[in-house]
Amino acid sequence: MGKWLAILSLVLTAVLALVIWDSRRQEFPAYQKAYFGAVAANAPTQLLRQWAQSQRIEIKQQFLGELRRLDRCQTCHLAVDNPAFRDVAEPLRTHPGLLDSHPPERFGCVSCHGGEGLALTTLAGHEGAEGQTKRLLKGEYMQAACFQCHGEKTLPLEASGAVVRGRQLVNQKMCLRCHQIGGKGGNEGPDLTVVGSRRDSVWIYAHFINPQAMNLVSTMPRFPLSRDDIKYLTTFLLTLRGGTDRITDTRYIASKSAEPGWRWPEKLPEPKAPPPGIDGLPRFDYDGKDLFSGTGCKTCHTVGQEGGEVGPVLNHIARKYDRDVFVRLLRNPADVFPQGQMPQLFLNEKQIQALADYLMTLR
Ligand code: HEC
Ligand code: HEC
Ligand code: HEC
Ligand code: HEC
Ligand code: HEC
Repeated sequence: MGKWLAILSLVLTAVLALVIWDSRRQEFPAYQKAYFGAVAANAPTQLLRQWAQSQRIEIKQQFLGELRRLDRCQTCHLAVDNPAFRDVAEPLRTHPGLLDSHPPERFGCVSCHGGEGLALTTLAGHEGAEGQTKRLLKGEYMQAACFQCHGEKTLPLEASGAVVRGRQLVNQKMCLRCHQIGGKGGNEGPDLTVVGSRRDSVWIYAHFINPQAMNLVSTMPRFPLSRDDIKYLTTFLLTLRGGTDRITDTRYIASKSAEPGWRWPEKLPEPKAPPPGIDGLPRFDYDGKDLFSGTGCKTCHTVGQEGGEVGPVLNHIARKYDRDVFVRLLRNPADVFPQGQMPQLFLNEKQIQALADYLMTLR
């Protein structure tokens, strides 16, 4: 009896230690304190102040019944529907648009942005684990998500152009000679009907540059494709999803077309100064090495013994270029290699600086 009690108390201590360790590792309590603190400080009414002060620091999750998903992005992104936070840095910023017609309690965030809805750290939420299909969709790749629900009929070209172009290319290059999509096509290559659930955007992109580097015995030809064409093909393939990844519920198929003159939400400018009450916002810093695998560089590039073979080996890359070249390359690869195939990954400025710092260590 005494033995079991001892074991039980050991186990309980271990669990408790793990919980404490886990909560210290988490970033979200700091964002929540900053957010509710700022709301309380600026509250025009006593009632709102009391509301903000009584909020608990906890995981905020939405269960999206119709989509059969759990979404926790708002654990950090607390201000998406609060118009007072336009000038605040992420993750406490007002959403640039679209949430009136796609409210978070019905659509969540992952349905448009991709990402790992259950994650509780920035890197895990945005970049997913390596080789997973859970990376945030950025830039034109995001059209894949819009297209899943809308098709092209209710979307203006601005929100569907990349997908439509990708589908044209699949026809032009006669991919269905070897592949099936939705029951039609040949059998030399794998069925692509749900390839978007199986492979992530960077993997699909890299495979077009060099199929044999991704799969040694591949008999898929290496098509001469421009950087843009690979992006369009990849965006189209990302619309081909299955199971719970795919939104098939007809209630979601938008019957409502965009108003004439509808525009894709604009990127908000970098915030200049934080509003009163929020100067305590914790700064989020990336680790360049984590980003190197998280954002997909490692799928194509080898450092040390590890990584892909689609792009050049980067072991001593800091001997070849200045930091300034890295920054230009990461902002826009076409600026450094106009005819090259390295993808535009739509990294933000903070990620670019962290990656450039990391590349500078590779001497
Ligand atoms: C642990 C907190 C946290 C969670 C959870 C989280 N985010 Fe973020 N998010 C951040 C932070 C911090 C930034 C700002 C990052 C930066 O400045 O580079 C950010 C930025 C973003 C951006 C802008 C990206 C860019 O390149 O500038 C998008 C889009 C985004 N988040 C979407 C999501 C989605 C979708 C989810 C859920 C799958 C999610 N986030 C979950 C903390 C979080
Ligand atoms: C209907 C689709 C849709 C939904 C739902 C949605 N977003 Fe967005 N979001 C967009 C679009 C489109 C942009 C414009 C930015 C772009 O083109 O990359 C954007 C921009 C953002 C940005 C700023 C990124 C930047 O680079 O300026 C963040 C952060 C963000 N969304 C987070 C969220 C979070 C968190 C949720 C869930 C509460 C959410 N979004 C729900 C479509 C959506
Ligand atoms: C999960 C399915 C789903 C996704 C993903 C989705 N939508 Fe929608 N969208 C809808 C539904 C449903 C409506 C109709 C909303 C209503 O009025 O009830 C709608 C309405 C719209 C409208 C018309 C109303 C308005 O805001 O002008 C536009 C435009 C639109 N969506 C664009 C987009 C874009 C752009 C994306 C990708 C960034 C996107 N949608 C992603 C389901 C979706
Ligand atoms: C001559 C036949 C052939 C043609 C034409 C061809 N492929 Fe392939 N493809 C293959 C074979 C074989 C594989 C399996 C080996 C591999 O992974 O490379 C493959 C693999 C793939 C994969 C990876 C699928 C997975 O889940 O692993 C994708 C994506 C793909 N092809 C897309 C395309 C697209 C898009 C086109 C047209 C631009 C195309 N293929 C044209 C033969 C072909
Ligand atoms: C889909 C594959 C792919 C991905 C992902 C990728 N690259 Fe590249 N990269 C290439 C290719 C291919 C080249 C050769 C130039 C070209 O074709 O554009 C290249 C070139 C480079 C070079 C110059 C190498 C030299 O010797 O001149 C650097 C540095 C680099 N990439 C860094 C990165 C970093 C950092 C990331 C992640 C943010 C990244 N790459 C993501 C494919 C990729």
